[in-house]
Amino acid sequence: MTAPGEWRCAAASVPPGRTATFRLECGGRSVSGFVVNFDGGYHAYVDRCPHVGTPLDLWPNEFFTEDGQALVCSTHGAIFEPDTGFCTGGPCAGDRLTRLPLRVEDASLVVTCP
Ligand code: FES
Repeated sequence: MTAPGEWRCAAASVPPGRTATFRLECGGRSVSGFVVNFDGGYHAYVDRCPHVGTPLDLWPNEFFTEDGQALVCSTHGAIFEPDTGFCTGGPCAGDRLTRLPLRVEDASLVVTCP
């Protein structure tokens, strides 16, 4: 059961090294986001590059670099740490992705509005 301002999915549907995208309704606004499973933890971010605000994934749900160790913005190539959202390289180095609250409940991932 999904409440307003909340998105849920089965944790097993996001295996290690994978992502899933979603939309949340937050205060009348639609927010696009994604969940990443990296290094044993789940993290949720707004799908918006801090550089010029475009979605990171030019191809839907494609966020990882080829080596699977970082997230990459498809527009100008900014690189982000999957577990912190911190930008380690590219035009917005030092900035970070906007994190969304995420909790694991039973076997589900639950993402809520900030
Ligand atoms: S919009 Fe992401 S690096 Fe420019």
